[in-house]
Amino acid sequence: MARDLSIEVSGLKFDNPFVIGSGPPGTNARVICKAFKAGWGGVVAKTTSLTDTQVVNVMPRYGKLRTKGGEVYGFQNIELISDLPFEQWEEEFKIVKNEYPDKILIGSIMESYDKARWQEVAQRSVEAGCDALELNFSCPHGHPETGMGAAMGQDSAQVEEVTRWVVEAVDVPVWSKMTPNITDIVKPAKAAKAGGAHGVSAINTVLAIIGIDLKTLRPLPTVEGHSTPGGYSAPAVKPIGLRAVKEIATDVPQFDISGIGGVVTAEDAIEFLLVGANTVQVCTGAMIYGMKMVNPLMDGLAKFMDEHGFESVQDIVGKSLPYFTTHHHLVDLQAEKRANKEEARTSRDKMWGSGNLEDETASLTSNE
Ligand SMILES: Cc1cc2nc3c(=O)[nH]c(=O)nc-3n(C[C@H](O)[C@H](O)[C@H](O)COP(=O)(O)O)c2cc1C
Repeated sequence: MARDLSIEVSGLKFDNPFVIGSGPPGTNARVICKAFKAGWGGVVAKTTSLTDTQVVNVMPRYGKLRTKGGEVYGFQNIELISDLPFEQWEEEFKIVKNEYPDKILIGSIMESYDKARWQEVAQRSVEAGCDALELNFSCPHGHPETGMGAAMGQDSAQVEEVTRWVVEAVDVPVWSKMTPNITDIVKPAKAAKAGGAHGVSAINTVLAIIGIDLKTLRPLPTVEGHSTPGGYSAPAVKPIGLRAVKEIATDVPQFDISGIGGVVTAEDAIEFLLVGANTVQVCTGAMIYGMKMVNPLMDGLAKFMDEHGFESVQDIVGKSLPYFTTHHHLVDLQAEKRANKEEARTSRDKMWGSGNLEDETASLTSNE
């Protein structure tokens, strides 16, 4: 019998913790149904807003960085939220819920700083069938120019107030989606909790410039000879996502966290669970490897649980958190192991250069 990978989060039962993150793999009912058919535990739909919000996408709007072997490790987009009219989204949500009534459909919404608009888009999304809502306070490009997305997410007072508007308006779980483009991600996470959210999703993309074309001297992705900084995703951002989730899990206890950023393998997803996420979202990974990548994610998680004797996915959540400490404490821990405390504190910098710099770097690397 297949292993039970289910987990209850924010009062909702997910068949497994793997959730499609908001973006192209959740951009209409057809792709969302494909995700559920493939076995994903949940889908966050592409972000939508009331129809008069201006959304005009450009082409091209993506850029990739590859390893020498050709694998994509960095991805940038300058895509906006969905360009479908909201009335169309109401139909798409109904189609999905009709076909997959038991699967978890999460609507993603973004609006301007206007209580009536946030409450309307939230209520209508729930009436059309969404089981939960994710509030997009985090898109780093395009929308912040008009005070939306990351512009709101960087202002904790707005995160708290807007979260409260939505929580008041609907009786489904609400997750506020965090931007990593901020000095202290714990502040907006605490604000979301104060506003009544059940949890947060972290992270959205990292504001970046994917590169410059050295022939034309034009920035990428190039649109009519020009570009604009965009959102960076894929495996390159996983360490930033893990750190964000760990900080929120440590400083905002009793709060659900949907971990996001660069997940491609089961191991990536398990790392997010270990630092405190209780669901894990995948966006760019599904765009590159397709919906069926959920199969190796599920197999890998089941194998990991067998190997470590974990009874349930919930048992994995936060298991690595006790092993984070301050740098000062690391020095003390190491010094305790050595007979001479002073030597442990001072000797290393003197030793650099006595051999090869590459070998010396390797000798200080944990996962060489
Ligand atoms: C092409 C593209 C479009 C995206 N659109 C949205 C969006 O509409 N709303 C949103 O909240 N996040 C959006 N995201 C961000 C992802 O949901 C996710 O937070 C981010 O890409 C990091 O995860 P990943 O490395 O698995 O892609 C988008 C990402 C990509 C690559």
